[in-house]
Amino acid sequence: MIKANNLTKKYKNETIFQNLNFHAQNGKFTIIQGKSGSGKTTLLNLISTIDDVENGGSIDIDGTKIEGLTEHKRAKFRATNIGFIFQSYALIPEFSIIENCTIPLTMAGMSQKEATKKAKKIIKELIHDADESFFAKTPMQLSGGQQQRVSIARALIHEPKIIIADEPTANLDESASKEVKLWLLSLVREKQICVIVVTHEKDYLNYGDILYEFVADESKKAKSILKEPVCLSH
Ligand SMILES: Nc1ncnc2c1ncn2[C@@H]1O[C@H](COP(=O)(O)OP(=O)(O)OP(=O)(O)O)[C@@H](O)[C@H]1O
Ligand SMILES: [Mg+2]
Repeated sequence: MIKANNLTKKYKNETIFQNLNFHAQNGKFTIIQGKSGSGKTTLLNLISTIDDVENGGSIDIDGTKIEGLTEHKRAKFRATNIGFIFQSYALIPEFSIIENCTIPLTMAGMSQKEATKKAKKIIKELIHDADESFFAKTPMQLSGGQQQRVSIARALIHEPKIIIADEPTANLDESASKEVKLWLLSLVREKQICVIVVTHEKDYLNYGDILYEFVADESKKAKSILKEPVCLSH
C-alpha cells in the first residue's frame, strides 16, 4: 500500500505538481494516465523511492515513512520491496541477459547458481523460446520488445509486493502485450500485489481497478494536477 500525500515536485523554477495525493492498494491494479510531459514518470520516481522527496509531502509504503530516508536506506528498501519496470528498460549493456536479471537476487545475497536457475525460469515464462544462447546475449543484441520483457523479468524476479511500471508494454506486439497485462493482473488477483502502471494504452482500462489522470492545472500554480481517482468496473 502506497500513500503519497501533499506531494510537491519542482524542477528548478518549474512546479510539476503541488500537494498531490495518490494512494495505491495491495491487490489492486492502479493505472496512471496523462499527456506526455504531465509528470507521470516524475511521480513514479518518487513513489518508487528512486527520487528523494525534496519539495514537500509524505510517502508511506506499507507502514514505512519514505521521506527523510537516506539514499542508501531507500535503495535497500527498494531492493526488497519494489519491482520497477522502466520506460527505457535500463538494462546494463555489458551484462548478459541472465546477469541483468540475477542482479536483484545476488544483491540480496543469493548465490549466482541459484539466482541463475530462477532467472531462466522467469525469462522462459515471458519469452517462450529463450534458450542458452539467448541467455548469454547482451541487451543490444535483442529487439526492443525482447529487452522490455527481460526488464519485466528483472523487475519481478525477487517477488516484490509492489510493482511499478512505466509504459511496460509500449514496445510489445499485441499478443505479447496482452500476455504481460494478464500476468500483471494475475499477480494482483492471486498474490495481492500492488501494481501501478503508467500507460497511454486504452486497453489497460479493461484490466485496471483504479484510474488516476494527470490534467493541466488551470490555475497555473503547477504544470499538472492529478484528478481524483476513478473506480473502473468491469
Ligand atoms: N531531470 C529533469 N530536469 C528538469 N525537468 C525535468 C526532468 N525530468 C522531467 N522534467 C520535466 O518534468 C515534466 C514531467 O516529466 P515526466 O518525465 O514526468 O513526464 P511524463 O508524463 O512521464 O511524460 P512521457 O509520457 O513523455 O513519458 C516535463 O515537463 C519534463 O520536461
Ligand atoms: Mg514518462
